[in-house]
Amino acid sequence: MRITPNILLRLAGLLGILVSIEIHAAGQSAGMDRIDRRVDELISRMTVAEKIGQMTQVNASETPIPDELYEAVKAGRIGSILNQVDVDLVNEIQRLAVEESRLGIPLMVGRDVIHGFQTVQPIPLGQAATWNPELVQKGARAAALEAASTGVNWTFAPMIDISRDPRWGRIAESFGEDPYMTGVFGAAMVRGFQGDDFSQPGNIAACAKHFAGYGASESGRDYNTTNIPENELRNVYLPPFKAAIDAGVATLMTSFSDLDGVPASGNRFLLKQVLRDEWQFDGFVVSDWASIEQLSVHGFTANDKEAAYEAASAGLNMEMATPTYANHLPELLEEGRIEMAQIDAMVTDILRIKFRMGLFEDPYTNPSDYPPIANEDSLAVAEKLARQSIVLLENRNHALPLAKEKLTSLAVIGPLADDPYEQLGTWIFDGDPELSRTPLKAIRQFLGDRVTINHVRAMETSRSRSTAGFDEAVEAARSADAVVAFLGEESILSGETHSRADINLPGSQQELLARLNKTGKPVIAVIMAGRPLTLRNIIDEVDALLFAWHPGTMAGPAIRDILFGVESPSGKLPATFPLMVGQVPIYHAHKNTGRPAVPEKFTHMDDIPVRMPQASWGFASFHLDAGYEPLYEFGYGLSYANFAYSDIEVSAAKISMDEKVTVQAVVRNEGKVEADEVVQLYVRDLVGNVTRPVRELKGFQRVRLKPGERRTVSFELGRDDLAFHGRDMTLMTEPGEFHVWIGGSSAAELGAKFTLTAD
Ligand code: BGC
Repeated sequence: MRITPNILLRLAGLLGILVSIEIHAAGQSAGMDRIDRRVDELISRMTVAEKIGQMTQVNASETPIPDELYEAVKAGRIGSILNQVDVDLVNEIQRLAVEESRLGIPLMVGRDVIHGFQTVQPIPLGQAATWNPELVQKGARAAALEAASTGVNWTFAPMIDISRDPRWGRIAESFGEDPYMTGVFGAAMVRGFQGDDFSQPGNIAACAKHFAGYGASESGRDYNTTNIPENELRNVYLPPFKAAIDAGVATLMTSFSDLDGVPASGNRFLLKQVLRDEWQFDGFVVSDWASIEQLSVHGFTANDKEAAYEAASAGLNMEMATPTYANHLPELLEEGRIEMAQIDAMVTDILRIKFRMGLFEDPYTNPSDYPPIANEDSLAVAEKLARQSIVLLENRNHALPLAKEKLTSLAVIGPLADDPYEQLGTWIFDGDPELSRTPLKAIRQFLGDRVTINHVRAMETSRSRSTAGFDEAVEAARSADAVVAFLGEESILSGETHSRADINLPGSQQELLARLNKTGKPVIAVIMAGRPLTLRNIIDEVDALLFAWHPGTMAGPAIRDILFGVESPSGKLPATFPLMVGQVPIYHAHKNTGRPAVPEKFTHMDDIPVRMPQASWGFASFHLDAGYEPLYEFGYGLSYANFAYSDIEVSAAKISMDEKVTVQAVVRNEGKVEADEVVQLYVRDLVGNVTRPVRELKGFQRVRLKPGERRTVSFELGRDDLAFHGRDMTLMTEPGEFHVWIGGSSAAELGAKFTLTAD
């Protein structure tokens, strides 16, 4: 090789990078060593009670704070509190820990900061619909700043349970059905909450939850049993947790659920083998609320003492809310069933995080160090998230966007049009409805006095069965140019414990839409909900359908901008919308089966001749009454523009294990407005050591295109992207043929292929 000046320059550059990586790594490990030394030194001075204190988290929501709690903190018997957000009280409790307990160990102050704080952002499922991890990261940062100003230094988020069952109320808190996407968003939230440097104000510890498998609760009923074979667990449910750990998440929370007969809070396979041995996680794990005590309710242990034994033996570091550890670990130590070394190791993990967070240096909160709550930036990020999360599901005859200048009157109907609370969604402990901008108000403001707005709530709540208000609603519709109906689920119908077996629009909403439709006026339905719903029964009653999830504080301006075309809708579904609930679980990355359904093999039961011989029809995997396709597939979402895909190319027909392949396609805006499109990459590994999904999401990019503009969008794939856990559970990448597709949903048709060779 001829050494040119250019090569020399590159070598010098490379050397520089290597040296700086080396220095950085050395710096980091020196920091780590220093922390480990401080932890060891502290542990050597701790009594058993103080160690167990660090492993105990108590609820501090009661005000005034009970004296016993103050005393326990002073005695070093508490390592963390949760649910107190009065900054003066938090500082006072912290002061007792730091200045009046023997060793002065600061407290972790936990809170469910799930989608914003006082400023509420869209529910996480809505945030996933943005397919915009950078924006989600900014949202987490904004939420962390608001929360930290009240003394909170630890959030129980992100929730990264894979959710393939819309009946499950907690799907609202998740990023949906896809492992890759959930990993990307989970990591983005972790980075947003924790920042690069914990010691900066407003950077709070994150907690990836619920480890693991909670989203697979049978029949979508909360807390129910989960049955997940290890291979599926490793390929579907665990990858987001690995992604969160790679992003530096400080803590994990166990799941309430029973995994293959062993509840997560006593599950050594999860907490020891996977988390510590395989992944080398060096943060700590907190139980879920009372989930150690509940090991006995599961029938896994006979009593609290055995529950404490199982959880501690699995290495569960901290107990939330219940005193099982505090009451029983001393006895278990005395009996020699738990070794002091085990306790020390668990306390080490907790203290390590407290040191990393800089809590020993700076335990107190001074609200004036923070920007005000609900400041412009916080509201702006909430609004942008809400705007990008809205998915346009139907738009017949260009019913949307509404043309402001042509309107003389508009009917705004429905229980969610002007309800500051119900637009916020689940988990809004600190959310402030007073900050809410409702759709009705935003529309009024936008249209001014020129346009008459007929507002009729029509139903008291989203669940109302009464149709008493319908005549008035129909009247309002008749005298308007168009109707916008704000329907869906009120906040309390999703979230923890709030699972549904019927996921149609609740109450008499369907009837309301039918009545509105009969007026002959264009009907636009805006659905706010905490889960995918079965919408088949209403799509013929509407001209356009927007799915807005629970959009949060800024629902009004965000929805208004979409309705009037200030911005084109760009959200895409992070979870499959079933045609009917009997199809659940239905998700895009399913396996092919030995008898996959194809159109020519499907017959609807209405079309089967009477007494047809059994063997002559089908032999494929479908439902006689629902077929095999969902109503709206994963990744789906319409735009006011019109995007066309072409020219897919792979950079090489064959690559070796050490090479990467670039997959690219051209996307063109053939519409009349500038808009964002979420370009998605799907891959199929044709033959595997274990069967592989028909499609897996492997990349996505949000691009903005002007009318007529075209862009080549490319993705890189290498060995790691194509890896999966095989029959022996190890991670492997196999040589063979791979198909790829690029497009605007999981039904993308533009495909290509490449071969990965063994060398
Ligand atoms: C939930 C957790 C939450 C905890 C604390 C539990 O009921 O399952 O997700 O973090 O409560 O509020």
